[in-house]
Amino acid sequence: MATVKTLSIDGRMINAGGDQTVLEAAAEVGIAIPTLCHLDGVADVGACRLCLVEVGDPPRLLPACSTEVFEAMVVRTDTERLRGLRRMIVELLFAERNHVCAVCVANGHCELQDLAVRVGMDHVRFEYVHPGLPVDISHERFGVDHNRCVLCTRCVRVCDQIEGAHTWDVAFRGAGARVVTDMHQPWGTSQTCTSCGKCMQACPTGAIFRKGATVAEMERDRSILSFLVTAREKKQWNV
Ligand code: SF4
Ligand code: SF4
Ligand code: FES
Repeated sequence: MATVKTLSIDGRMINAGGDQTVLEAAAEVGIAIPTLCHLDGVADVGACRLCLVEVGDPPRLLPACSTEVFEAMVVRTDTERLRGLRRMIVELLFAERNHVCAVCVANGHCELQDLAVRVGMDHVRFEYVHPGLPVDISHERFGVDHNRCVLCTRCVRVCDQIEGAHTWDVAFRGAGARVVTDMHQPWGTSQTCTSCGKCMQACPTGAIFRKGATVAEMERDRSILSFLVTAREKKQWNV
């Protein structure tokens, strides 16, 4: 069993399991650190940097989702510098692709939109890129609008680690990076996709949507994913 560590988060002394992340330890005492690429049940990749916290003195910036607690660690989750960084990250995400919430299927049910509210984003200080990316509606049940994608790779990890299909992957580099299905072919022609819908449930924005969903209709049910993860951890399906 992992040794218990004693640490301080935002001035509160807490105990946490030695294999816990700062994100998990903070959540247990009711401190909610903002996240975007993190999804309970799949491995963390530390991609979005929204969960940055300050550790130690002088403070180092570390991602809470992929940093394990250690003895006598001093963590701050809500400083002026962190608030400024989080706001900048959200603004950059809005500037990079086309997040026009008013005409999005996920309007009102979107984690990016919620984050913008939480970090107090009332305008974007960066120039919009407006990339004009494709929308793939070749799958019989789902579609993917790359203009809404924030490259969190939650779809990639859920499809690989929970469904075991590994239909999604990330192709290309830098600003040209995109999630692709199989060998970068139309999703509807994928040989590996089982049409389970887990990627659609995992997507935090309107990028992966159920076909036929109208604006503001795309509610997700994350409890489906956590049910599957818990059942697998408890080996409920093993005979
Ligand atoms: S529907 Fe299921 S199998 Fe198909 S891409 Fe999404 S998660 Fe993978
Ligand atoms: S399609 Fe959705 S889940 Fe997949 S990387 Fe883009 S935003 Fe994340
Ligand atoms: S949630 Fe930690 S880096 Fe994205």
